[in-house]
Amino acid sequence: MPEFEWDPETYQALMAEEIPDYPRLQTEVAAAAAVGAPNSILDLGVGSGLTAQRVLDALPGAGLLGIDASPEMLAAAEAILDPERTELRLGRLEDPLPRGPFDLVMSTLAVHHLDGPGKADLFACIAAVLAPGGRFVLGDLVVPADPADVVTPIDWIDDTPSSLDEQLTWLAEAGLTTRVHWQHRDLAVIVAQKD
Ligand SMILES: C[S@@+](CC[C@H](N)C(=O)[O-])C[C@H]1O[C@@H](n2cnc3c(N)ncnc32)[C@H](O)[C@@H]1O
Repeated sequence: MPEFEWDPETYQALMAEEIPDYPRLQTEVAAAAAVGAPNSILDLGVGSGLTAQRVLDALPGAGLLGIDASPEMLAAAEAILDPERTELRLGRLEDPLPRGPFDLVMSTLAVHHLDGPGKADLFACIAAVLAPGGRFVLGDLVVPADPADVVTPIDWIDDTPSSLDEQLTWLAEAGLTTRVHWQHRDLAVIVAQKD
């Protein structure tokens, strides 16, 4: 089965149709990211840069390294993000991460494309590249406790979300201290701190 191809031209319409609370998710990611005024940011699955832009607007002193597997999405990110504050790299979440250390690692609506072991592996890699006191802000789809809270269509091929509790467990196993910043139906923002 070929991997889903992201199209920056249709991305916002797709989000509006399938994830109506995407703007609220971005607001909550940006609010959680801005705590502690981090300077160095790694954005995993930066896509067309829409959430990265919100975070950079909230943190005028920060610089961001964005990684994504889609050249088309990265080209769109390049068009909107300040080149003085941004570096963009083609790469996969499964690849070794840049060494860092980073004050903040963020990811919005990308980690749910990994399966459970893939998420657990990624969380351990993120813990290794966070600076002491650094934080991981994860804004993503979760499998809600109540099936009635499912809003976003899931194909269980490209989309393999996990429950909030599973992800909190894997983050704790990676040595991070977690808290749920926000949750609404099948969306959540988790903050995981390295002591
Ligand atoms: C729904 S978009 C989210 C984009 C952006 N973070 C945002 O907030 O709008 C998901 C992005 O994750 C990227 N992605 C999905 N799986 C990936 C993987 N395994 N490695 C790298 N990027 C991946 C896709 O190319 C796409 O740009």
